[in-house]
Amino acid sequence: MITPNVHYAELKDSYLFYHIAQKTGAYLAAHPGAHLYRMGIGDVTLPLCPAVIAALHEAVDDQASGARFHGYMPECGAPFLRSAVAAHYGARGVRLAEDEVFISSGASDELGDILDLFDRSASALVIEPAYPAYVDANVMAGRRIVRLPSGRADGFLPEPCPEAAADLLYICSPNNPTGAVFDRARLQRWVDFANEHGSVILFDAAYEAFIAEDGLPRSILELDGARTCAIEICSLSKTAGFTGTRLGYTVIPHELVRGGMRFQDMWVRNRTTKTNGVSYIIQKGGAAVFTPEGQRQIRENIGYYKRNALILTEALDRLGLWYCGGRNAPYIWLRCPDGMGSWDFFELLLREIQVVGTPGEGFGACGEGYFRFSTFGSREDTAEAAARLTALLGGR
Ligand code: MLT
Repeated sequence: MITPNVHYAELKDSYLFYHIAQKTGAYLAAHPGAHLYRMGIGDVTLPLCPAVIAALHEAVDDQASGARFHGYMPECGAPFLRSAVAAHYGARGVRLAEDEVFISSGASDELGDILDLFDRSASALVIEPAYPAYVDANVMAGRRIVRLPSGRADGFLPEPCPEAAADLLYICSPNNPTGAVFDRARLQRWVDFANEHGSVILFDAAYEAFIAEDGLPRSILELDGARTCAIEICSLSKTAGFTGTRLGYTVIPHELVRGGMRFQDMWVRNRTTKTNGVSYIIQKGGAAVFTPEGQRQIRENIGYYKRNALILTEALDRLGLWYCGGRNAPYIWLRCPDGMGSWDFFELLLREIQVVGTPGEGFGACGEGYFRFSTFGSREDTAEAAARLTALLGGR
């Protein structure tokens, strides 16, 4: 009889966002016709921008034309999109070779797949609170997880320390869920730490487009020494509204070598074996994001979500609740009122005002007592959720 992967038994019963979807589904089943104000999972609500839509339509027409039809795409990405991403980094002062950019179907898929590059004996550092897939993907592979809790005292941006020594170091900046952003000096200390220990940083840059303050690093590759220790994983999900369209990219510098093996070569070997690439149509749509028109249009959409953040943070200010994030990131991380546990607060909001958020405990034990709001809702829902929150908690 075949032996299943026994590490699945070490996982929580269900994945955080799946668990929340089940709870909201049960609420709706019990309250038919109820409207939920969804500020839980970070799923966008604005449509794709016009430049992307036009490119998608053109690409569909290409597929209807004998002369312009595309079959299999190159497994590591279409040259037109790889070069557009490399040029985008180049414009920000980060020089990349086109073959260091790999096109993916999104950051969450890639964060799991990329683990193929590392031995199962490798340990993984997760700075908590953290996007839960970092932990779960490594637990499934049977890896040892090293948890580094962070909190208000360190601004949710802990320093490297002896207890943080691990083979893989997950860093997400701007951070999901806290919205905290590493400044150059702090991030440099992690890069130096990784190089000293021979570790590899998996840098999740999914929220870089939300950085509003000048001088904060948008890519780890802006830092000295990052090319010998970091892989950057990025996505167009939040940057350009591709959550349902699925597109991302990963940067693996040529200089990233361990044990005489070059990770860029290994990833070519992996992708050419395990995928047939991302669809031509979607990649054409993605390339439009990197045109001047596309960049202007996605910035407008990001501005819309930032105004949502303002509506929510003004409500939290009025209520006197502690929070961070929302400025350089699409998430607001708040302290639950009156010492409430984060799942109790989740239930309270769902039951009393039909607002859905994400309990901080779902991002790690040190997230207990905190709560996350996504700012990707519609303006109407966000404003109504802020009003309901004020009415519920205002009198306490
Ligand atoms: C989140 O809400 O943390 C993210 O949207 C989830 C994801 O990107 O998979």
